[in-house]
Formats: sequence, structure tokens, C-alpha cells
Amino acid sequence: MTEQVAPGIIRKLWAGEAEIFKDHLLRLDVESRRFRFGSAVSAEFVERYAARAFRTGAIVHGYFVDGTLRAAAELYPMGDVLPGEAEAAFSVEREFQNHGLGTQLLERVILAARNRGIGKLCLNCLAQNRRMQQIARKFDAELSFDIDEVTAALKAPFPTALSLAQEAAADLQGMAGAVLQAQRLATGRMFDMLIPAGDDAQIEAEAA
Ligand SMILES: CC(C)(COP(=O)(O)OP(=O)(O)OC[C@H]1O[C@@H](n2cnc3c(N)ncnc32)[C@H](O)[C@@H]1OP(=O)(O)O)[C@@H](O)C(=O)NCCC(=O)NCCS
Repeated sequence: MTEQVAPGIIRKLWAGEAEIFKDHLLRLDVESRRFRFGSAVSAEFVERYAARAFRTGAIVHGYFVDGTLRAAAELYPMGDVLPGEAEAAFSVEREFQNHGLGTQLLERVILAARNRGIGKLCLNCLAQNRRMQQIARKFDAELSFDIDEVTAALKAPFPTALSLAQEAAADLQGMAGAVLQAQRLATGRMFDMLIPAGDDAQIEAEAA
């Protein structure tokens, strides 16, 4: 079983957040980057990819810890090419892996997909990527194996009033969490400005 999820918030990213999405993807270790993109890719490739993601109509959910994006799930509706179908991709930074985040993010992606009339969701990963396949299995995905690649096809149920309300509630919660994190960070920064670095030891000594 996975360990408990680290504290943080999951929310949708805004189109103006391509830069932080890029920074997150660039923080992936070598193996995670290869697993995410299906082959070893350069930093320049990742930069171009992140800049393009929001322009293609992707819905990106992110997991933030202290304002830093540590995991993301991208949902790409196929639009007119394949109506009712979408692709999804996941990235969790190494120190946050195996804590249940990929599973939680896939739940959010399925909810977003069903609420947009998407009935079929495809996840592609390398054959060695057992963790991704295990997550897909938890959602009853049908797995097709190629030589070095696996495609997992998941069915998303029809939208209901409840599923729409669930997504709206999650968005609201994410927004509130983002505001709280921003407030906490701003308060911390203000505190740092009031007490110059190096004074901590002096304060402790005076308090003792
Ligand atoms: C793949 C990835 C998205 C999974 O997210 P995660 O947060 O690490 O995964 P979770 O903790 O939610 O779940 C992992 C599951 O795999 C299982 N698992 C871990 N290592 C495993 C292994 N070697 N073999 C089989 N199952 C494994 C865990 O036990 C857990 O299953 P459980 O909840 O039934 O116990 C994440 O590790 C990642 O970003 N990897 C790099 C990029 C990538 O591979 N992206 C996917 C391709 S787009």
C-alpha cells in the first residue's frame, strides 16, 4: 500500500501558470522525466512542451506544497479529432512519489473528464512503468501491451449533477487553499524582512 499523502493542496492550474508548470517538469529526476515523456528528452524540449500545454486546451491539476508545484496531471481532450476521448499524463516529483498522489490526481482527472462528456481516457506509459500501470488498474483500466509501451484505457461515467457539484466543490477548496498558502507565505516573508537573517540565534539566546 502507498504511504499517506504529504500535506498540500490540489487545484487546477491557470493558463498564466505555464512557468511554474515548466519548473515542476524540469525538477523531475532523470528517470521520472523519461517515464513522463516516454524517452529521454532535453530541458529545451520540456520548456517548449510546458509553454504549449495550456495553448492546446489542456486541463492541468497540480499538487502544491508551500506554493510550489510538486505534481501535475494533464488532461488533453481530443476535440473534434476524437470526440469523447482524451489523453492524460502524470508527473510527481521523486520525493513525493508513492504517497498516493498519482492516485488522487487520476481521480480528479476522471471527474474532470466525465464532466466534459469524455467517456474514454487513455494513458500511455513505458512497459517498465509498473507504478503507473498499478494506478490505472485501480480504476479498472484495460491495459494493452506493446513491446516497450503500455496503453491504459479507462471508462469515465456520464456526468451527473453530483459529479458537477463535486468538481465545483473541489475547485472552491483548491482556491481557498491557494489563498491560504499565499497568505502564509506572505506572512513568512514579512517576518523574515522584520528579523534580518542571523538574528535567530540572538533571539534564542535572549529568550533563554
Ligand atoms: C507514475 C506516477 C504518476 C505515480 O504516482 P505516485 O504518486 O507515485 O503513485 P501512487 O502513490 O498514487 O500509487 C502507486 C501505486 O503503485 C504501487 N507500486 C509502487 N511501486 C510499484 C512497482 N514497482 N510495481 C508495481 N506497483 C508499484 C504502489 O503500491 C501503489 O499502489 P497501491 O496504492 O495499490 O498500493 C509517479 O510515480 C510519477 O510521476 N512517475 C514519473 C513520471 C511518470 O511515470 N508518469 C507516468 C507516465 S505519463
